[in-house]
Formats: sequence, C-alpha cells, structure tokens
Amino acid sequence: MEGPLLRPLPWWRQRSGGLTMDQTSSTYHEPVMVHEVVHFMEPVAVGIIVDGTFGGGGHALALLHRFPELAVIGIDRDPDAIANAPVHPRLSLVQANFAELAEVVAGERGTDPPGGPHVDGVLLDLGISSHQVDTAERGFSFRRAGPLDMRMGPDAELDASELVNEWDVDRLASIFRDYGEERFARRIARAIVAARPVDDTETLAAVVADAIPAAARRPGHPARRVFQALRIAVNDELGALAAGLDAAIEAIRPGGRVVVISYHSLEDRLVKRRFATGAAGCTYPPDLPVRGYDSAAELRPLGRTFPNAEEIEENPRARSAVLRAVEKVTS
Ligand SMILES: C[S@@+](CC[C@H](N)C(=O)[O-])C[C@H]1O[C@@H](n2cnc3c(N)ncnc32)[C@H](O)[C@@H]1O
Repeated sequence: MEGPLLRPLPWWRQRSGGLTMDQTSSTYHEPVMVHEVVHFMEPVAVGIIVDGTFGGGGHALALLHRFPELAVIGIDRDPDAIANAPVHPRLSLVQANFAELAEVVAGERGTDPPGGPHVDGVLLDLGISSHQVDTAERGFSFRRAGPLDMRMGPDAELDASELVNEWDVDRLASIFRDYGEERFARRIARAIVAARPVDDTETLAAVVADAIPAAARRPGHPARRVFQALRIAVNDELGALAAGLDAAIEAIRPGGRVVVISYHSLEDRLVKRRFATGAAGCTYPPDLPVRGYDSAAELRPLGRTFPNAEEIEENPRARSAVLRAVEKVTS
C-alpha cells in the first residue's frame, strides 16, 4: 500500500539557526506572497527590517531564514501574536500599533543615529490573521459563535458590541457603506437597531442575512461586508494605515524599502495614493513659497504585484491580495 504523499516543507518553514517555532505553527497563519516579499526586500536585507504586522511570523521567518545578516523588529497590536511568536536571535518583538512605528524603532534601537532612528525596510501585511479569524472568542467570524468583540488589541477604544448596540442608524449605515461597500447599508442598520440587544456574532449574522432581499444576494456569506466594516471601524484600520505609511516612509533611510500587502480596495487605494504622492515629489500647493524646497521625489515606485494562480489555489486567502512596493529616494 502506498504511504501518504509527503510534500517537503517550503524553505521558509524549515528550521534554521535559533528558531524554536514548531513547524506546524503555520496553522497560525499561512503567509501570502512570501517569495515576492523576499524579492522586494533583498537589496536591504543586510540591515534592519520592521515587520509591522508580525501575526504568525511567516514573513519575518522567511526573511530571517533567507538573509543571514538581517535583523527583524516584529510589531503586532495583538498580545496573542507576540505571546505565540518564535524565538530567534535576530528577532525582537514589540506589542504595539504600527501607527507608532517611529516610537517603537527609537525604543528598539536605543540612541537615535544621526538623522533619526532609520531602518532599512518596513513590511505591512494588512488585516487579520487566520488565527484571529479562527478563534471564535475574538468575534471576527460570521461563521463562528462568539462575542461581538473584534478588537485586534487592547489599544482599540471600542468593541463591536458597542457599535452594534449603541450607534444610531446613520452612523452604522455610513460604516457599512464606506468600509463594507454594502448596497443595503441603511436597511441592515435599521434591522440591527430593531433587533437590539444583539449579543453575539451568530445573532448579528442572522439579522444581517434577513435584512438583505433574497433576490439581491451576492456570492459569499451575506454578512461578510458588515463584519468587515465593523472590524475596520473598531480598530480604526484606515487611520492606523495612513499613520503607519507616513511613519514607515519617515523611518526608512534613503535606499530603504516599504512593502505593503492589502486585501481590500479601501486599503489598497490608501497605499496607492500615499505612494503616488511620494513619487510625485511635491506635497505642497504649487503656489506656496517654500524656502529650500527640493522638488526631487521622495519615493521611487517598484511596482504592484498579485499572487499567482497556484498560490490562490493553495491559499484562498491570497485571492484578494495586492502587493505594492516603493524605495525611498530622498531623506
Ligand atoms: C495578515 S496578518 C499578518 C500575517 C503575517 N505576515 C504572517 O506571516 O503571519 C495581520 C497581523 O497584523 C496585525 N495588525 C493589523 N493591524 C495592525 C496595526 N495597526 N498595528 C500592529 N499590528 C497590526 C494583526 O493583529 C495580525 O496579527
């Protein structure tokens, strides 16, 4: 009888100097576009890279494994990600919001080198990890019964229950429309307000599903867009991203790189615009007399890329991923 077909572990999951992470820990999160991240970081991989969304550490481990002179500072909002992180002699970990990247880098690097606490690269792999979605008590999943929480970390000021049970119809409808691109935003908001108190994810998912006319249902779970909108609002994800992009661009030295993987159009639009502004150079109104203004562009775009069909087949979460990368030109 033939034995099970054993596939070799991908290189980024094989053990290497100092790692104590269990090889099965990719169940925490399967990283997306690992080869592309490594490719874009290659020119800066003798220095320090900040992984601002450490999660299960898949990207960080891949980079450490591939580049023996690299050090990684891993940041995650979620204390659970930090508590489950592997130990590695070239990895340091900080529980924080990547919006505070400058403070984290200054703290990790001690005395600032002249010109500021520069690093060589920053990676942001946005959204939530599979482990967060799969942990029912975190309340992220419309498929699992859990409390209406959805906080990525203790720095979030509200949980989803406060939004669902206290916000008025207008406020709920506006986040469902803006962050979930939900056609039936107002109708769903009204249904939620009428169903209060809504105590758990299952009840919320059922209220949302009932509020959408059967004839108008699109593929996928009817509550997917509402859950996404609540998560974005609870964690102020777009505010953190805008601040994190500025902080990342500020923190890297000239020649340094920023690589961002987004999973929905709102994130990608923000990344695209910030990179385009940096690549265009001038961020001042053209008629403003700015003394000593240097018109050279701040950033050089390195391109945009998507996962290939094979990766999407193996890891459906990759389906919506878009990677954008830039290099800093001026300090
Ligand atoms: C898609 S996962 C990252 C997966 C990781 N690249 C890997 O290989 O396992 C996103 C992670 O970023 C964290 N995160 C999201 N927004 C954050 C923020 N503003 N600051 C810090 N961490 C954040 C989440 O808690 C989650 O653990």
